[in-house]
Amino acid sequence: GGVHMPEMHASALLQATGEAVYVDDIPVAAGSLFGAPLLSSVARGTIERIETSAALALDPSVAVYTADDVPGMNVLGAIVYDEEVIVSKEITSQGQLLGMVVASSADLARLAARKVNVVLTEAAPDAPELVVTIDEAVAAGQYMSGGNKMKSGDVEGALEGASHVLEGTTYVGGQEHFYLETFATLAVPVEGEQMKVYASTQNPSKTQKFVSRVLGVPSAKVAVHVKRIGGGFGGKETRTCPLSAAVALAAKLSGKPVRCMLDRDEDMVYSGTRHPYKGVYKVGYNDDGKILGLDIDLYSNAGFSLDLSGSVMDRALFHVDNAYKIPAVGARGWLCKTNTPSNTAFRGFGGPQSMLICESWIDNVARELGKDPAEVRAANFYEPDATTHYGQVLTDNRLEAVWGEVMSKSEYETRRAEVAAFNAAHRWRKRGLAAVPTKFGMSFTAKFLNQAGALVHVYQDGTVLVSHGGIEMGQGLHTKMAQVAASAFGIPVSDVYVDETATDKVANTVPTAASVSSDINGMAVLDACEQILARLATVEGVAADAPLAEKALAAHLQRINLSANGFYKTPDIGFEFDPTGETAGSGMPFNYFCYGAAVAEVEIDVLTGDHVVTRADLVMDVGDSLNPAIDLGQVEGAFVQGMGLFTTEELIKLGNGHVFTRGPSFYKIPAFSDIPSIFNVSLLKDAPNSRAIHSSKGVGEPPLFLAASVFFAIKDAVGAARVDAGLGSGAFDLHSPASSERIRMACGPVAPEL
Ligand code: MTE
Ligand code: HPA
Repeated sequence: GGVHMPEMHASALLQATGEAVYVDDIPVAAGSLFGAPLLSSVARGTIERIETSAALALDPSVAVYTADDVPGMNVLGAIVYDEEVIVSKEITSQGQLLGMVVASSADLARLAARKVNVVLTEAAPDAPELVVTIDEAVAAGQYMSGGNKMKSGDVEGALEGASHVLEGTTYVGGQEHFYLETFATLAVPVEGEQMKVYASTQNPSKTQKFVSRVLGVPSAKVAVHVKRIGGGFGGKETRTCPLSAAVALAAKLSGKPVRCMLDRDEDMVYSGTRHPYKGVYKVGYNDDGKILGLDIDLYSNAGFSLDLSGSVMDRALFHVDNAYKIPAVGARGWLCKTNTPSNTAFRGFGGPQSMLICESWIDNVARELGKDPAEVRAANFYEPDATTHYGQVLTDNRLEAVWGEVMSKSEYETRRAEVAAFNAAHRWRKRGLAAVPTKFGMSFTAKFLNQAGALVHVYQDGTVLVSHGGIEMGQGLHTKMAQVAASAFGIPVSDVYVDETATDKVANTVPTAASVSSDINGMAVLDACEQILARLATVEGVAADAPLAEKALAAHLQRINLSANGFYKTPDIGFEFDPTGETAGSGMPFNYFCYGAAVAEVEIDVLTGDHVVTRADLVMDVGDSLNPAIDLGQVEGAFVQGMGLFTTEELIKLGNGHVFTRGPSFYKIPAFSDIPSIFNVSLLKDAPNSRAIHSSKGVGEPPLFLAASVFFAIKDAVGAARVDAGLGSGAFDLHSPASSERIRMACGPVAPEL
């Protein structure tokens, strides 16, 4: 049961039976209050006053806490402090927190929240236009600072010297995280001075910081505990922190435990989404399909505050190349400030958006040349040990390996011919096939985040309790960490327990994000285990191969410390952008890269725009997997989540900035029936990685982009329909998500035939 074994997820059975405990399952203590958020119903306005009398009249237990009640700091943020935890006056988005309403039951609290009357002055008639979309922000020139830019090679010369230049625009929509468990916090005041917080968050340390700042209480008196969360996907990396702080505020001021779990519609308007992106590009290429240069502007919709938008854009800039050697690249990032909820981390973190834009122009280059896009893709792959546009060498480049394997196992060439035959025989149903590679840089691009801690206790019976800085959000991190400790001590995994993540066990943690949690926490756990092992080696009177229990007992009797604090920081990384944007910047942003490739086949209904994914073949490089059972699940889950991103999940905001998509009846995430009927997922074999724990690789985010194979298979099918509709076989735009409407419209007119 040590590392590399397909150990079952440690809480799989508990989760299947419903016994697993989430924040809202913690038994309600006597005297507890329930919180309901007061959220802004408009995208812009000025608060004149908040009338609470009708709410307070409902029940003596009702209280309403607003910005005026904050004893400490109210202006905070993920990196830059540019947003109020509770809005005091100026509303700049729908869904902003205006107050926390508490009552003796959750229903009563929500009823009371509805009785609160927020008196607003709407924007004056001469106020600037409300800005909702990227295009509106661009028109108004409304950008936040923090968008980086870079240039490598002679971009102008490359475009001038190319036989062809293609210009175009691709839009990629955002994505709602739709974790099963919405934002939830329980705050328990202790003895009038301490605050214990149980939160559904990927970021207990930032939660601690927010609670401490908002309450004006030292961090040492705030402890944040996370047993597990019901999915996070990046949505709980920062956006949970202000809400948890507001719940803690209510707990402090009422002196009672307060719990608050958002309803789905509240969560969907409060929490922000993946950033929508727009890419405007110029690409130069030759007749053989070789790409010579790329000039691109990337625009993201950041929402009302900066949050992580700068870092998301950095990752987007690092992934404009996806898997391709582009000799000259100019890329600029623009962060659009809009009157919409603040957008945030989501699995892939700007990478998928940027890579989809890359694959869109590559697909169009192939169409213009009349070549199979797969051929143009392969012709531009990075060679082994090639250098990226930001100067990092791709050691252990596995693009050819994953590509070769997926092309042969999917029988791409045979099926390409079959698809062509089907399309020749059918006018209103078309099939499409596409192969797409990916390369994903592993590390937080902000250097200081690449650190981790662990606390390991060995007890006298030879069992081991592991605490580390990472959150279990379904991805199997705790299972992998138990495997690391079990291997270190040579004991069964069942003798290792990972209880919870808490700021009083491992302090100053980074968010569980960027897919590196098993890399960095695993190294910290190993460091702690090795410290204890070194001490155990000094125990007298026990055989070197004695069971751990025997050694531990002897160690205790000989007064040897059986606990250790482990630490790790990723070596050699760190990157600085050139503020002028005239060079490629300097340093190495990534510790290593993950590679993957996928082939997908779809069938579309030309008349309705409906589609089904009939088959997908994936090959993913996860190094020497720490746990192949979990990693397969991660690859499958990421792929299906990516399918949602690129096909059915369409966020709709109205012109007045209102969020229309506030529940599953408006917003379609993949269901079981959307999983490809033939779904062959494999992990690349013999793929060691000297740069991470036990030769493994991180896995959480990199496979998500492989779902672009579904998007481009749809585009391939649409391309066939367009030929029949008389639109020719050249480049055309398909924006993401490839919704039924977009598919139908891209297929061209049907009327002449009918
Ligand atoms: N898997 C599950 N089941 N639930 C999640 O919320 N989040 C993903 C991925 N896989 C997630 C998941 C995201 S966004 C990331 S960054 C990684 O897990 C984080 O965990 P890791 O660093 O341990 O891979
Ligand atoms: N993913 C990738 N990179 C990141 C993230 C993330 O969630 N957070 C900060 N850098």
